[in-house]
Amino acid sequence: MNPSASKFSAIPVLCFLLLATFGNSQLDYRFYDKTCANLTKIVRYGVFSAIANETRLAASLLRLHFHDCFVKGCEGSILLDDNSNFRGEKNAFPNRNSARGFEVIDAIKENVEKACPSTVSCTDILTLASRDAVFLAGGPFWPVPLGRRDGLTANETAANTDLPSPFEPLENITAKFISKGLDVKDMVVLSGGHTIGFAQCSTFKQRLFDFDGAGNPDPILDESLLSSLRNICPNQDDSDSNLAPLDAATSSKFDNSYFKILVNNSGLLQSDQALMGDNKTAALVSNYCKFPFLFSKDFAASMVKMSNIGVLTGQQGEIRINCRVVN
Ligand code: HEM
Ligand SMILES: *[C@@H]1O[C@H](CO)[C@@H](O)[C@H](O)[C@H]1NC(C)=O
Ligand SMILES: *[C@@H]1O[C@H](CO)[C@@H](O)[C@H](O)[C@H]1NC(C)=O
Ligand SMILES: *[C@@H]1O[C@H](CO)[C@@H](O)[C@H](O)[C@H]1NC(C)=O
Ligand SMILES: *[C@@H]1O[C@H](CO)[C@@H](O)[C@H](O)[C@H]1NC(C)=O
Ligand SMILES: *[C@@H]1O[C@H](CO)[C@@H](O)[C@H](O)[C@H]1NC(C)=O
Ligand SMILES: *[C@@H]1O[C@H](CO)[C@@H](O)[C@H](O)[C@H]1NC(C)=O
Repeated sequence: MNPSASKFSAIPVLCFLLLATFGNSQLDYRFYDKTCANLTKIVRYGVFSAIANETRLAASLLRLHFHDCFVKGCEGSILLDDNSNFRGEKNAFPNRNSARGFEVIDAIKENVEKACPSTVSCTDILTLASRDAVFLAGGPFWPVPLGRRDGLTANETAANTDLPSPFEPLENITAKFISKGLDVKDMVVLSGGHTIGFAQCSTFKQRLFDFDGAGNPDPILDESLLSSLRNICPNQDDSDSNLAPLDAATSSKFDNSYFKILVNNSGLLQSDQALMGDNKTAALVSNYCKFPFLFSKDFAASMVKMSNIGVLTGQQGEIRINCRVVN
């Protein structure tokens, strides 16, 4: 081999290795600064318009991001429609007739494609949209590291097994957060996402009418909340999709009220109220109840952590053009 050729070719190889190391291993706050300078404005506008028309969409977008990240990592798999190669995640049990906000992401993606074609991943758009949704609902703001890429497939089974259910015990939910690299504190503070949005009666109705198999309601549930929930969710199947606010005190404001209602036994889901049934999680709830600033700060930090689960970077995956289909 010609020694001078190898000496010269070592330079680009070295540069490539450095780029590969830094480019692949981490996300970057300025990832799209040069390639899509208006990205954050376009996303902000899209989320703002959606929420101006329907307040609940802030909650729906936040949950969509959570459901993206907990299944195969934050790589946009929840956004994929079913196709002939795979059954997508939209019809998995936790998402069917429940996950919403897809049209908002489609509309933002369309505008982003006009400004900077084939540049910004759908999962980065969803990550930014959920940050903006929280902020526009009155919650904290945090910078979002970017550069995630979109996955090439979805996994319905993983959506069924990895997402927490409101009917499973706290230990099981904790195990699911730990398996994603999050901890108990992340779980408690991120549950504070339930300070906005709604749940269908089917997700908590057994607490109202037959909690113990002997026709009694959940004994923990606050009496006045019980009677108002029985009005929203009469004991018949056709009430299953009626909606109740997760935080009945301030359902469209992103504040620390979720933790206050847990302290007075007014959590909507059994899994919400279960945070009070364990000394460690109850102590965290009590702190977030007393210190709203601590909640804001910890929520932002745990969101960044959640947004980094299983991300694809560098040459992995792709930049999807239509968020509903692989290119
Ligand atoms: C800790 C385990 C969790 C369980 C068991 C759980 C369960 C649920 C359930 C059953 C609903 C109602 C869905 C429906 O009726 O259609 C819901 C709604 C919601 N969840 Fe969670 N969730 C959990 C954690 C989280 C996390 C970590 C976040 C975000 C950080 C989050 C954000 C939301 C939001 C914002 C809504 C309202 C969505 C809307 O109104 O469209 N949840 N959750
Ligand atoms: C960003 O948006 C502004 C206003 O809409 C526009 O004038 C400008 O050309 C855009 N910049 C880029 C780099 O697309
Ligand atoms: C506004 O929200 C309603 C539902 O609340 C929906 O039917 C309608 O399509 C939305 N309009 C726009 C422009 O997004
Ligand atoms: C889908 O997820 C399930 C559960 O995590 C896993 O066992 C299975 O191998 C995954 N399927 C594919 C095709 O990756
Ligand atoms: C909780 O997890 C255990 C151990 O994985 C499992 O056997 C049990 O079925 C789970 N309980 C529920 C209600 O999902
Ligand atoms: C529980 O707390 C919420 C929020 O602070 C409040 O709206 C509700 O009235 C309280 N319920 C009781 C029984 O104190
Ligand atoms: C939880 O706290 C109570 C009283 O504050 C105590 O009696 C109980 O032993 C504690 N349980 C655990 C598992 O630490």
